[in-house]
Amino acid sequence: MLNQNMEKAINDQINAEIYSSYLYLSMSAYFDSINLKGCSHWMRIQAMEEMTHFKRFYDFLTARGGRVILAQIDAPPSAWDAPLAVFENVLTHEQLVTGLINKLIDLSMELKDHATNSFLQWFIDEQVEEEASADEVIQSMKLNANNPGGLFIIDKELMQRVFTPPVGVTL
Ligand code: FEO
Repeated sequence: MLNQNMEKAINDQINAEIYSSYLYLSMSAYFDSINLKGCSHWMRIQAMEEMTHFKRFYDFLTARGGRVILAQIDAPPSAWDAPLAVFENVLTHEQLVTGLINKLIDLSMELKDHATNSFLQWFIDEQVEEEASADEVIQSMKLNANNPGGLFIIDKELMQRVFTPPVGVTL
């Protein structure tokens, strides 16, 4: 039987994952508005990945006999100063999510909830990857800050990102 505090914490994380998807869709729309189609595409895939994260939590909570309660999703920001600022926002957001995952793990340890602890291990690795991929774009944009065609080249590269549906997770 799932502890009620853990059930509430997982429902909060479901909300956080959907918000993440909403945030990245907003970033995608921003990039569309300034005609950076590759950046927009990268964010759309990021948004889709967040929905698979949401689904993992949803399915886990249901499998453990918990009740999914969907709450209101906050409105994300809709404008940024520059493309670099958007990716810096991605990184700070992912760092925040990493902190949320760590808190969930702390709670699972406190409750001796081994099943939830095991389930959360996947997210530890995922967060390392999420932070690294945002930082990679940031570093690339900074390196090309004085190169007039740099942003155009980065935009083309980001268009290559492919969404790979995770095994066992459907939307
Ligand atoms: Fe669901 Fe980007 O962490």
